[in-house]
Amino acid sequence: MNGSQPLLATRDLTGGYGEIDILTGIEMTVAAREIVTIAGTNGSGKSTLAKAVMGFLPRTAGTIRFDGIDLLAQPAEKRLALGIAYVPQVANIFPSLSVEENLLVIENVADRRARLEAMYAHFPALKPLRRRRAGSLSGGERQQVAFARTLMPEPKLMVLDEPTAALSPAIVSKILALIRTLPEAGVAVLLVEQRAREALAISDRGYILDQGRIVLADTAAALLSDTRMAELYLGHGLTESDKAPS
Ligand SMILES: Nc1ncnc2c1ncn2[C@@H]1O[C@H](COP(=O)(O)OP(=O)(O)O)[C@@H](O)[C@H]1O
Ligand SMILES: [Mg+2]
Repeated sequence: MNGSQPLLATRDLTGGYGEIDILTGIEMTVAAREIVTIAGTNGSGKSTLAKAVMGFLPRTAGTIRFDGIDLLAQPAEKRLALGIAYVPQVANIFPSLSVEENLLVIENVADRRARLEAMYAHFPALKPLRRRRAGSLSGGERQQVAFARTLMPEPKLMVLDEPTAALSPAIVSKILALIRTLPEAGVAVLLVEQRAREALAISDRGYILDQGRIVLADTAAALLSDTRMAELYLGHGLTESDKAPS
């Protein structure tokens, strides 16, 4: 990042899959080495926003700037070379390949062996598992493989879509703690999560989506104590962790 320019910035971002807008007027920024949560109830447009940033949404309008580049003018397949990596909610590893093969098949990596060792240093649990078939690992271990794969080409921004969705509560906090360490490795994180409170607890700032619009935008600390959060979430069929204490 140079000066006060954010790494990622959307202006009046609108888009959808067909004629109906799913996202409306999204104004969002992520600074270098910042963790920003996108939270909201099921169907509020969180994954759609991640897909818009990644260039996977069939129809988008407005602007998305990343590191000084007009992202919407770039094809989706250029995102990784530009420094944006994506971990989708599902199918984020090759189950039939070993842990190490999953890391080595990633493109745009200058010195694969050196990066591999850096990944084992960042995710120590993976080194003893490196010959294991990735599909045989636990949910938390698989998510670490997905993170390590994504970090191989040294991205500036990681877009994570519900990285804790399929995990048991004990593993959730472990994975969030690992996400918390990413800025130390020079990586900013756009963290899409339905578990708003847990995600905000490791974030700098957050945006709350409701029906494809940003309805709250603030520091993570301010959002965590904002009573409107509970109102937005009540009655929307949330996970236990997101329910306001009764
Ligand atoms: N591939 C798709 N085609 C058409 N509509 C979709 C598609 N994916 C999601 N939607 C719709 O977009 C809205 C937002 O979905 P999504 O972004 O997946 O929400 P979230 O990730 O917050 O649960 C929902 O109404 C959903 O039905
Ligand atoms: Mg989603």
